[in-house]
Amino acid sequence: MEIVIQPTAEAATSIAARLIARLLREKPDPVLGLATGSTPLRLYEELVRLRLDWRRVTTFNLDEYVGLRPDHPQSYHHFMWENFFRHLNIAKRNVHIPDGVARNIQASCERYEKQIRAAGGIDLQLLGIGADGHIGFNEPTSSLASRTRIKTLTPQTRKDNGRFFGGEHKVPHHVITMGVGTIMEARQCLLLAFGKNKSRAVAAMVEGPIAAVNPASILQMHPQAKIFLDASAASKLQRIDYYHRVFDDKPDWQRI
Ligand code: PGA
Repeated sequence: MEIVIQPTAEAATSIAARLIARLLREKPDPVLGLATGSTPLRLYEELVRLRLDWRRVTTFNLDEYVGLRPDHPQSYHHFMWENFFRHLNIAKRNVHIPDGVARNIQASCERYEKQIRAAGGIDLQLLGIGADGHIGFNEPTSSLASRTRIKTLTPQTRKDNGRFFGGEHKVPHHVITMGVGTIMEARQCLLLAFGKNKSRAVAAMVEGPIAAVNPASILQMHPQAKIFLDASAASKLQRIDYYHRVFDDKPDWQRI
């Protein structure tokens, strides 16, 4: 795990944007795993500003609410098109988001996994983290080997996401999410976490034991996981000085 701590979310986001821009310039047809929520919004804005070429990029989103049609204002389909895709020259056929209104959810989850494989796997998976340690919508006790499937949200996550819906009671109970095993197969993972309310989950992910009650902790087993934090999200880490030193003392060839 590489822990990159910056004073502000803006600074951390800029470095993450540079990493993604580099991938797009180096690989003509990269496959990106994308995330929703408030954390990646600034990153998407910055990527739009960079005016990169997205024509040959393929994307797979982590998750979607069950029961929300793509044009529902709180669906992740809507979120992604509104905040990101409509500003890019991306091909619609290359965009993949789990289908929250599939008649046969299980079959559609299996198809999603197949599509990821057919695209050659995910080069870089963008992640946020829930205050309860979820990645994607893999809530605590999710199997660490899980694949794309339906999950039930915890009361904590429904409460956290109630702000987007105008009340927690309006947040769907069920979601479709890539599994922890699916996420772990990405060649690179890039997790962003900002703000004090993420500090406990971040400390458990980085310095706690690997456990299904804290799904993000499995990233300790990923050979290429980068964690981008602002000072508040990093505030409960025990080894902050070491993480700063690692970043500051990088040899030139490893610099981002
Ligand atoms: P947030 O969500 O970016 O809205 O905090 C992160 C997550 O739940 O993964």
